[in-house]
Amino acid sequence: MNWWNLFLSVLLIAGHTQLWVAFVNRVHALPMPHAVLKHVRHLHDVALISFPIVLLWCLGVSGPRLLTYGRWSDLSSGWIAVIAVCSLGVAGLVISTLRHQWRPSPRAVLSERAEVFDIESQLGRRPVGEGPYRSLATLPWNEQFTLELSEKRLALPRLPRAWEGLTILHLSDWHLMPTIERCFFEEVTDYVSAQSADLIVFTGDLIDDMACVEWFPHTLGILDAPLGRYFILGNHDWEQEADVIRECLSSHGWQSVGSDVRTIEHAGHRMMIAGDETPWLGDRPDIQGATETDFRLLLAHTPDHFGWARRQGVDLMLSGHNHGGQVVLPIFGPVYSPSTNGVRYAAGTFAKEQTVMHVSRGLAGRHPLRWRCRPEVTRLILERDTA
Ligand SMILES: [Fe+2]
Repeated sequence: MNWWNLFLSVLLIAGHTQLWVAFVNRVHALPMPHAVLKHVRHLHDVALISFPIVLLWCLGVSGPRLLTYGRWSDLSSGWIAVIAVCSLGVAGLVISTLRHQWRPSPRAVLSERAEVFDIESQLGRRPVGEGPYRSLATLPWNEQFTLELSEKRLALPRLPRAWEGLTILHLSDWHLMPTIERCFFEEVTDYVSAQSADLIVFTGDLIDDMACVEWFPHTLGILDAPLGRYFILGNHDWEQEADVIRECLSSHGWQSVGSDVRTIEHAGHRMMIAGDETPWLGDRPDIQGATETDFRLLLAHTPDHFGWARRQGVDLMLSGHNHGGQVVLPIFGPVYSPSTNGVRYAAGTFAKEQTVMHVSRGLAGRHPLRWRCRPEVTRLILERDTA
């Protein structure tokens, strides 16, 4: 056995996997029907299973017999091309891993702390109902039935002095569907409502099953905050009946800012709250109506709009959509993230120039499986960046 060639073959298989994952992540960032995305995922599954078998058989065991006495120089030009492409995948994997390992916390994050609650223990059972992907929900070590209440102090250069200590509760991606029983979301709501906040925002993907609009009065409907509750919808709401969801949540006192801008006044200063549900719903909000001194808060379902937000002079952008990857591997980090940026903005806080972005891991997902990536609700405390 030529162990060195076996190691190189494994590297090429990893590179091939990385290319498919990168492709799937980017396709899932586009406004495509669920059925098409499902076909893409199946194609990805077939490619990931068949490529190692084909590679090891055609190059390792037969053909140039690389796993015994063969040499790479004996490969045909077709296989050399395949290997060149897979090598690009290996480079991508190395870059992604290094970025995950050495991403510094931005200076805008002054401090952070988190408290974890085990909802499953609280209920005395795992609240798994009848619904799609039920088997995933029952897997051992699944962190889906926990809650991480995190608190972050963010420094923002243009925050009015009178707003020092202003708090925002950031909720995202609840994906209400019967696979996770209503009692889980009610328990989470109890924890969330115990948190004091000036403002509550929800950044999309509220529902995966229209029957769950009946859960609103027992969950999001009972939350309140002095400066209001604002929401946008996400790609999963787009796949359902978005207008009904918007209307229903609005009837419980939440204000939709999808493709829209609302201005509130607090302590003598104005905050513009804009919502961006593109590329799935509506258009970009018109932020240019804001005056120089207005504080600009953008709710955008996908963090892919970070560059656009910076160009619009947004102060704070809040997003979800990527769920932190849901499964975070040791060393490599998150793998799947439906973004044109891959896993770069899977979750966390990012800052460039005056714009700070917080990407929530969200609370659930159509696939109810989480590992090293707990469901999250975040309480943001805003401070003025005087540096
Ligand atoms: Fe989502």
